[in-house]
Amino acid sequence: MKPIKVGLLGFGTVGGGTYQVLTRNQEEISRRAGRRIEVAAVCRRDLAAARAQVGEGVRVVADPMEIIRDPDIDIVVELIGGEGVAREVVMAAIAAGKHVVTANKALLAVHGNEVFSSARDKGVMVAFEAAVAGGIPIIKALRESLAGNRIEWVAGIINGTTNFILSEMRAKGLDFATVLKEAQRLGYAEADPTFDIEGVDAAHKLTILSAIAFGIPVQFAKAHVEGISQLQAVDIKYAEQLGYRIKLLGITRRRNELGGIELRVHPTLVPAQRLIANVEGAMNAVMVQGDAVGTTLYYGKGAGAEPTASSVVADIVDVTRLATADPDHRVPHLAFQPDQMQGTPILPMD
Ligand code: NDP
Ligand code: HSE
Repeated sequence: MKPIKVGLLGFGTVGGGTYQVLTRNQEEISRRAGRRIEVAAVCRRDLAAARAQVGEGVRVVADPMEIIRDPDIDIVVELIGGEGVAREVVMAAIAAGKHVVTANKALLAVHGNEVFSSARDKGVMVAFEAAVAGGIPIIKALRESLAGNRIEWVAGIINGTTNFILSEMRAKGLDFATVLKEAQRLGYAEADPTFDIEGVDAAHKLTILSAIAFGIPVQFAKAHVEGISQLQAVDIKYAEQLGYRIKLLGITRRRNELGGIELRVHPTLVPAQRLIANVEGAMNAVMVQGDAVGTTLYYGKGAGAEPTASSVVADIVDVTRLATADPDHRVPHLAFQPDQMQGTPILPMD
């Protein structure tokens, strides 16, 4: 069988990490996928920097459309970020009949209904494990491992930057601005870090989790969003004296009595003895309550080059396997039907 050819669009923290993992573990990854996987092309505007990052035989381009127009590319991996160029290239890739892997939660939380609708019409896959909780396989867990459950709620720490800031402020007494700079240096923060500190990034991720857990459309605009920028060292200190830790939690749950679903992100006082209160640094932890399984907890690195690449590569393997299967028997990567979206409303917060 001929190799699957991958084009990486965006070659920064996650793009670079994905290239490293794919090349370092290429034999093992290809064996698991049942087909050889090759990076055929990478795209970033700084061509000289890109050339210095890749081996011979990998095409380097500055215009994402060159990869989308390339008939040899099977899977387009979008790691540019944001809603502008990324949306254009993802929609163009789908229109060109390419499968897409993306880590872009902003794109999916805001434009996911359009993206998945187009993908379904074209019979291509859009996979996005890396978009939520970095290296934790939470999308697969919700969509597949917990498929037998009625999900009651999902809650967790789903932004590494803010958890890193809160942890460092508490443990080392460092100030907010200093720790944020360190999170940026380590590649955890978004291009616009206000998305992290104001809770927007966590709300993007929660919107995606909620869509999968409850089979509803993405409805980011209805989420209640509060970040940590107003917190001071003294808040963290007083919380500790009272036996609590402050965590930025994302919570989505059924409110049967009100006939809707809650979708909220805000700083929360968590009793210090709880497992989730002890999740420190850029780690993430997601709890899921299902009617059959009870409460389950997923923990791991929520950001950074290779932890995120781990999820991107898993999606490439998944798409490679499914691309080889009969299109009618592919598992959809989002479990709602975009044309049956009336469903359950997101409740306004009091
Ligand atoms: P970076 O800013 O590190 O990388 C973005 C890349 O895109 C750069 O290589 C940039 O290179 C390239 N790029 C930007 N604009 C264009 C353009 N118009 N045409 C071609 N290339 C372009 O971002 P990250 O790797 O951190 O994030 C990528 C995605 O992954 C985002 O959606 C982010 O939310 C998501 N993500 C990030 C995680 C992390 O830990 N960093 C974790 C989970 C998800 P150049 O400037 O040379 O063009
Ligand atoms: N900026 C994000 C975070 C990256 O800090 O969690 C991972 O999605």
